[in-house]
Amino acid sequence: MILSGKRILLIIGGGIAAYKCLDLIRRLRERGASVRCVMTAAAQEFVTPLAVGALSADDVFSDLFDRQDEHDVGHIRLSREADLVVVAPATADLMAKMANGLANDLASTTLMATDKKVLIAPAMNPRMWSHPATRRNRATLEQDGVAFVGPGRGEMAESGEAGDGRMAEPLEIVAAIEALLDEAPKPLAGRKIVVTSGPTHEPIDPVRYIANRSSGKQGHAIAGALARLGAEVHLVSGPVTIADPAGVNVVHVESARQMKAAVEAALPADAGVFVAAVADWRTEGEAGEKIKKEVGKGPPALQMVENPDILATIGHHANRPKLVVGFAAETQNVLENARAKLKKKGADLIVANDVSHDSGVNASGVMGGDRNLVRIVSADGAEEWPEMSKNEVATRLAALIAEKLGGQ
Ligand SMILES: Cc1cc2nc3c(=O)[nH]c(=O)nc-3n(C[C@H](O)[C@H](O)[C@H](O)COP(=O)(O)O)c2cc1C
Repeated sequence: MILSGKRILLIIGGGIAAYKCLDLIRRLRERGASVRCVMTAAAQEFVTPLAVGALSADDVFSDLFDRQDEHDVGHIRLSREADLVVVAPATADLMAKMANGLANDLASTTLMATDKKVLIAPAMNPRMWSHPATRRNRATLEQDGVAFVGPGRGEMAESGEAGDGRMAEPLEIVAAIEALLDEAPKPLAGRKIVVTSGPTHEPIDPVRYIANRSSGKQGHAIAGALARLGAEVHLVSGPVTIADPAGVNVVHVESARQMKAAVEAALPADAGVFVAAVADWRTEGEAGEKIKKEVGKGPPALQMVENPDILATIGHHANRPKLVVGFAAETQNVLENARAKLKKKGADLIVANDVSHDSGVNASGVMGGDRNLVRIVSADGAEEWPEMSKNEVATRLAALIAEKLGGQ
């Protein structure tokens, strides 16, 4: 856990998005970080120091000239005792102060006095964000090495206006903080990797589709683990209900044909990891209108046709990545089928998992569940990994991919 034991100094500016800070503090603390907060005078118009102090379980600092605080901690210690300084929401006003070196309250003085990395999460009305003054301040801050997260596009809380300026969501800010504090080695830096994840939906008519039980948990975890090792990850995801992993470029698709096109568009790449449970078949010719249930007519006959085989296509592609990894979900003869797949699909590695109900992994089964039992099959043989969480499988597989790419 990157955040375990880390000390975050959170400077809360006076914007409507200050309410999201309460959630941010919780998310940071549940990951093992301690959070100490400085609030501007304006911030206290939006959230109370009482709420911020209760959630951070620490004193809240706001007055530069508070004799007790200055004696106990002091603005210099406040700014130096942290591992990272985060400003959220960063108002137009705070950005302007930072860019110009103003230090006329505790927040701005602390920012001037710090020797730590600073991450800011701007939040403001789209017009304020696109104002030439803010654009200048942003460029200056970037030049000064200040890191940014967001803002995103969306509706403004206060005005019903929409546009750029919405503060990044707490979990995005957490991911940005983790990325800045992550000191782990980056063996995949400079490598581009394409990952597929989730199921595909094959339309029958405008309202019905054929799908499978894949949740995307394993593929998304692998994409995240590869990104943490420094890879530029392009994730092509089928329809899933889980969040996009941090630090990954994501393209969302529905059908196998769309997934194949998105994967090919992402080539060339150093490696491809094909985790998605791509539907083998689709119905021939999607009906343009909803198929009606008609009395006396019986159910429609669905004629199935084969979908493109994405793994085999990429395994034999003119632009084939150096390393091609496929997943094989099997309910019987897991190892035999994986070995056969290795050859047929032109893959270097097959991660074979037993998705049968009696695989013993857990009651909910591998598909949709949180644990996995896999075997890694290559031309050199097969290695069985003990049952572990999908996140652990992802971390181990990412390390194996780094080793394979490094050695080539
Ligand atoms: C209801 C309301 C919402 C505001 N929301 C924002 C905002 O989202 N972003 C921003 O930069 N300023 C916003 N402001 C203006 C700031 O509160 C104002 O510039 C203040 O001086 C900022 O002080 P600070 O930077 O010291 O926190 C808002 C003001 C009001 C009254």
